[in-house]
Amino acid sequence: MTVKELSFENYRNLENNSIFPSDGINVIYGDNAQGKTNMLECLWLFTGGRSFRGSKESELVRFDNDYARIRLKFESREREQEIKIMIKGGKKYAELNDVKKSYISQIVGSFCCVVFSPDHLTLIKNGPEERRKFIDAAICQIKPSYSAILSKYQKILTERNALLKDIKYHSELMDMLEIWDDRLSAQGALVSRERILYMKDFSEYCAEYYDGISKGSEKINISYRLSYGDETVTDICVLKEKLCKKLVMCQQNDIYQGYTGAGPHRDDISVMIDGKNARSFGSQGQQRSLVLSMKLAEASVLRYENGEQPVILLDDVLSELDMKRQDYLLNELSQKQVFITCCESEIMAKLKEGKKALFYINSGTVMPSPVK
Ligand SMILES: Nc1ncnc2c1ncn2[C@@H]1O[C@H](COP(=O)(O)OP(=O)(O)OP(=O)(O)O)[C@@H](O)[C@H]1O
Ligand SMILES: [Mg+2]
Repeated sequence: MTVKELSFENYRNLENNSIFPSDGINVIYGDNAQGKTNMLECLWLFTGGRSFRGSKESELVRFDNDYARIRLKFESREREQEIKIMIKGGKKYAELNDVKKSYISQIVGSFCCVVFSPDHLTLIKNGPEERRKFIDAAICQIKPSYSAILSKYQKILTERNALLKDIKYHSELMDMLEIWDDRLSAQGALVSRERILYMKDFSEYCAEYYDGISKGSEKINISYRLSYGDETVTDICVLKEKLCKKLVMCQQNDIYQGYTGAGPHRDDISVMIDGKNARSFGSQGQQRSLVLSMKLAEASVLRYENGEQPVILLDDVLSELDMKRQDYLLNELSQKQVFITCCESEIMAKLKEGKKALFYINSGTVMPSPVK
């Protein structure tokens, strides 16, 4: 997958423009607050996802304007393709190869990216919800139908939780719980199974990348932790049965809490460095290296599953990484199309021979710069 041209109009602080990136490493450099992250965010939107900064749609439109228009020409499956997105009235409207889509979600899977932003350090620093979201989003890019499986599970969970709260005051509703236990465990088994399968390849790639970044001096272990049994099981019937049993076992507690205590919404991904929990004991550099390894692993699984290398977006990735780690990363990326932001252009000197481009950005104006 290769970006050929990116155009933006009224997008955040970016001056209306079109850029033609290199197929290799594209360095976007400039002082703080000039629009570097805005440019990566703009590229990311073509995956069909929401802003990786968690911004609302209306915040993407330049101040005092009522719409923004962005367009991407890219090569995928040896074919030139085009996505146009219009952002207006707090909503996004998409066209893929001149065909209007009813929902932006219909473009998911057409253009694939992996993004690293310093905000993603919360993947390690925060609780399990961030890690579940990460893995769900990663699976959605490979298998867009997974998003329907997830929302159905979420709906069933909401209904079961509502019933639990009602049972507290209307014990005659107790009979209905069995029906919802059955639905929740059937749907929950589907969600957990997809995640466990995804984690198999993902954790191997991740360990490999971390090994490279840390030059083999540290070992990581990433594994899926089911909230209701053995994570090595992928048989759908076994998973369903285990979850159902756990729900029955925890019934009294669930009713007391008014909340379902087991299921994929309570699963976690454990991340350890040399046998110690990375969240509690990892240094800044280790946590950054870990998140980076997770993102590169996400890209590798995507390439393996889709047969195409996703575009890699790296926002301010090099700070806090020592020279050895930086060298490994830049070498690892040399065969991929990458967009990397930083405050200086010095990084260009570290890049090996090959395809590369430099863009200087000042007050939202993006200027291609000559590569020395
Ligand atoms: N909707 C908008 N309209 C106009 N300007 C905006 C809008 N949203 C954000 N900005 C401006 O864009 C500027 C640049 O933001 P951006 O986060 O891309 O900077 P950056 O170059 O990545 O900086 P840093 O190096 O500090 O990360 C900010 O100063 C912000 O005020
Ligand atoms: Mg930035």
